[in-house]
Amino acid sequence: MLTLPLRMRRNRKLDALRKLLAETHLKKADLIAPLFVTEENSGSRPISSIPGISCYSIDTLTPVAKALHKDGIQAVILFPIIHKKYKDEQGSRAYQVDGIIPKALKLLKKEIPSLCLISDIALDPYTTHGHDGLVGASLEILNDPTVAILGKIAICHAEAGADLVAPSDMMDGRIGYIRKQLDLNGFTNTGILAYSIKYASCFYSPFRAALQSHPAFGNKKTYQMDPANAQEAILEAELDEKEGADILMVKPASNYLDIIAKLKNHTTRPICAYQVSGEYGMILAAHEKGLFDADDALYESLLSIKRAGADIIITYAAKRMLSLLDS
Ligand code: PBG
Repeated sequence: MLTLPLRMRRNRKLDALRKLLAETHLKKADLIAPLFVTEENSGSRPISSIPGISCYSIDTLTPVAKALHKDGIQAVILFPIIHKKYKDEQGSRAYQVDGIIPKALKLLKKEIPSLCLISDIALDPYTTHGHDGLVGASLEILNDPTVAILGKIAICHAEAGADLVAPSDMMDGRIGYIRKQLDLNGFTNTGILAYSIKYASCFYSPFRAALQSHPAFGNKKTYQMDPANAQEAILEAELDEKEGADILMVKPASNYLDIIAKLKNHTTRPICAYQVSGEYGMILAAHEKGLFDADDALYESLLSIKRAGADIIITYAAKRMLSLLDS
């Protein structure tokens, strides 16, 4: 028999003990559910590239959001699926008040006032070229003119009822500009969830398939971050913090747990992580192949994201996780 001063397994012997001693807890209120909305009056239809997720027309949206909220979800983030006929080079549909996102925000704020509404701010769902910014003469993505448009979109969404606007474009200086525009227009209580650390990742592919927003030329590496970089991530977050971000985001999540952990040591702001479409899709695909159980894997990956330091998580698994979680 070994004489050990400490036997680690003593604290693991009972389910009750393991529950008492768990250092990390995943709760329903940690999860933000993405909701896709379409201008078409087609009811709801499944999104083939993101299994288990659907796109909703305006008349089918409220019951879905109501049910999520009733079951413990506190926030949804809205994404538009825009018909080709509404896309142009400038993405001008993005800030039209009769567009699908302002309509959806207005409706949901009226029908479910206690639900936190987040709207993604970027041009890519609305542009024919699929980039997050305006395109210059030599096909470069223009920073400052894009930021001016992002300000317009933010005001339009704030006016429609967004509690948080979430710029996902990665242009420089957009957080400060949006904060200023919101304040000047009286929206001092509209928060900014900044996609501060957003990497140029292949894991967005299923989302782009859903929006038909794959870049028509080039890639997003001149504005989204190089996955090789970690120091730079902290600088991105610091800048957004100084410019007035209320919540900082790291995206994608699972391959960037080191970044989440590093950010946790550098900021007192809340941290949001985005488990993106490709991360979710990999787990469901592995389940389909019989490699492991999707719910077990989703739970473990979301718990790991929290353990790394995320306070809240945007995940396509929000709904299916609810039955496994406490409030
Ligand atoms: C748009 C945007 C993207 C995602 C969220 N907002 C795509 C992109 O940057 O190309 C990806 C989300 C996901 O993959 O789940 N700027």
